[in-house]
Amino acid sequence: MKVIEVDLGKRSYPIYIGDSILADKELIDKQITSHQVLVVTNETIAPLYLKSIVNNLAGLDYDVLVLPDGESYKSLDCFNQIISRLMEKKFNRTCMLIALGGGVIGDLTGFVAACYQRGVKFIQIPTTLLAQVDSSVGGKTAVNHPLGKNMIGAFYQPSAVLADTSVLSSLPDREFSAGLAEVIKYGLIRDREFYEWLENNIDLLIQRDNKALIYTIERSCINKAEVVAQDERESGVRATLNLGHTFGHAIETGLSYKHWLHGEAVGCGMLMAADLSMRLGLLEQEQVDRIKRLLVRAKLPIKIHKDIKLKQMLENMKVDKKSRDGILYLILLSDIGQATITADYTEQALTETINHFLE
Ligand code: NAD
Ligand code: GLY
Repeated sequence: MKVIEVDLGKRSYPIYIGDSILADKELIDKQITSHQVLVVTNETIAPLYLKSIVNNLAGLDYDVLVLPDGESYKSLDCFNQIISRLMEKKFNRTCMLIALGGGVIGDLTGFVAACYQRGVKFIQIPTTLLAQVDSSVGGKTAVNHPLGKNMIGAFYQPSAVLADTSVLSSLPDREFSAGLAEVIKYGLIRDREFYEWLENNIDLLIQRDNKALIYTIERSCINKAEVVAQDERESGVRATLNLGHTFGHAIETGLSYKHWLHGEAVGCGMLMAADLSMRLGLLEQEQVDRIKRLLVRAKLPIKIHKDIKLKQMLENMKVDKKSRDGILYLILLSDIGQATITADYTEQALTETINHFLE
C-alpha cells in the first residue's frame, strides 16, 4: 500500500492507494472516527461495492443513501435529500459522511459535509480512475446549477482518501480513458519524467495492469497534492490543473453535457492547448504530434465533436471561470512538463486552432 500526505497544516490528510484497501478492515476502522456514519453512493456502485464498506460499520449508528446515477444528480435537490436524511437520523456535528463513488458522488457528498452544521468530517472512497487521480483529492466540492456546472460549492478537504485499484476492474472502457486524460495532464503540466513513463507504459495501463495502475495513481496524487499544498484556493498555480479544461468545457457546453465524457473533452482540449502553444511559438510541432500520439493510444478523441461550430466554441470559452475582467486566461504549454498561464495570444491564433480541430 502507498500513502501520500496532502500537506495542509491542521487540515492535512492521507491518501491510501492499493489493490485491497476495501478489504483492509483495520485501515477502514481507523478512518471512521464517529459513531454516526452516512454512506452516500449511487445505484450502479451500490450492488458492486457497498457491502464491503457496510461490513465495517457493524455496531455503529449508520445509514446508507443510494442516489440515482448521473451528472444531473449532482444537484441541490440531492444535496437536500442527503441533509434531510442526516436530520431524520438526528446526526450531530460529530457525524461522518462516506462518499463511495466517482466524482459526482464525491463532489456532492463533500459539499454536504462542508455545509451540514457548518462542517462535518467526510471520507472519499473514489471508484473511478478520474476520481482516484483527481476529484477526490484537493477539496473542491460542488453541485451544479441549471445555468452552470459546479456553480455552488466550497473548498472543503476530506479527512482521508481511500483509493482501491481493484474497483476499477468494473469501470467501462470509456470512463477509464476519461480518467487517463487527467493522468496525462499531470505529465504535461509539471512532470516530464511521468509523461515519458506514460509513453512507455500506456498499453499496460489500458489493460489495467495493477502495478502500472498503482504507480499511475500514486504519481498523479503526488502531483496533485503538491499543487494543492501550494495553492489550495486556486489563486495561482492550481489553475494549471485546468490544462485543456477551457477548450473542454466549451465542447461540453456545446454538447449540453451529452455525447462526450468530461475527460474526453479535456483530452481533446489539452491537444488544442498544445496546438495553440505551437502557433504562438511556445512548443514545437513535433511535441504536439507526440501528445497526439499518446492521446490516441489512451483512446481519447483528438477532433472536436462534429456538432460543434467555431462561433459556439468562442462564445462558450468566454464564460470560463478563468476569465477575469473580460480577459480569458489560458493554460498553455512551453514544453512537455511545463505549463504557463497566459492571456498573451491573439484571437487569430485561437481561431486557427479551433478551426484545425473542427471535423
Ligand atoms: P461519475 O461519478 O459520473 O462516474 C462515471 C460513471 O461510472 C457513473 O455512471 C458511475 O456510476 C460509474 N462508476 C463509478 N465507479 C464505478 C466502478 N468502479 N465500476 C463501474 N462503474 C462505476 O464521473 P467521474 O468521471 O468519476 O467524475 C466526474 C465528476 O467529477 C464531474 O461532476 C466533475 O465536475 C467532477 N470533477 C471534480 C473535480 C474536483 O476537483 N472536485 C475534478 C474533476 C472532475
Ligand atoms: N481538478 C482541478 C482542481 O482540483 O483544481
